[in-house]
Amino acid sequence: MDEMVKMAVDDLGNAVNVAALTGAGISVESGIPPFRGKGGLWEKIDPMEFAHIDTFMRDPVKVWNVLLKDMKEIISKAKPNAAHLGLVKLEKMNKLKTIITQNVDGLHQMAGNTDVIEFHGNFAWQKCMKCGNRLETCKVDLSLIPPKCQCGGIFRPDCVFFGEMIPPDYLERSQKAAERCDVMLVIGTSAVVHPASCMPVIAKENGAKIIEINPERTPLTGRVSDYLVRGNAGEIMSNILSGMGTK
Ligand code: OAD
Repeated sequence: MDEMVKMAVDDLGNAVNVAALTGAGISVESGIPPFRGKGGLWEKIDPMEFAHIDTFMRDPVKVWNVLLKDMKEIISKAKPNAAHLGLVKLEKMNKLKTIITQNVDGLHQMAGNTDVIEFHGNFAWQKCMKCGNRLETCKVDLSLIPPKCQCGGIFRPDCVFFGEMIPPDYLERSQKAAERCDVMLVIGTSAVVHPASCMPVIAKENGAKIIEINPERTPLTGRVSDYLVRGNAGEIMSNILSGMGTK
């Protein structure tokens, strides 16, 4: 067994309260491209232009056409992969208590995890900017862009755009989860977007072991994380779980 996988097996075996912080990388094997790095969405479009609330307010047609239409298409087809399913197994083993995810794809809940904090919201729902009515994204009619509510207001995803606040209760619950865990798994995040990237720091300051799973190093590697298990999330999670005696 790979030395790093073995360390993770031992640390998770000894843990009683595991938290996970996940990012776009955990959903790559489900067919959803990440934001940064090779093949990342932000290589093609500028996030500060297309994923900023000011742009959406100014030009919702542009943001729906360039970003949100494709997101609807890609997310609607995605299914949980071995990494998402591995986190369900860790919850069933009574190890994993909370997932803090930066993803808006809903795959952790689809896989079966029960305590998932969607730090950046969820793409499964759209919210009317005029009357506040919510509609499931799969029911939103995209034959007219931007999609509109019956009241005539424009729909926006129930996600956090750049320039918007993280909902305070999500932030508070995430901080608490980070404070009380004894192991934090940091899976598939470049750890460059605040305040999500502060969660491993909070966990570390409160005595937790930080295990990163990622094919690449991140700003946390060698500084905040105790070690990096290098590779794709699905494969690494499967190896860790089989090392723990769970197939
Ligand atoms: P990023 O796209 O910034 O980072 C993805 C990470 O996943 C990188 O560190 C990759 O090395 C890693 N990765 C790629 N393939 C992987 C695989 N198969 N298994 C495991 N890891 C893999 O995504 P996030 O860190 O989630 O915010 O980005 C954070 C936030 O920035 C997003 O929530 C979004 C974005 O702008 C908003 O839109 C507000």
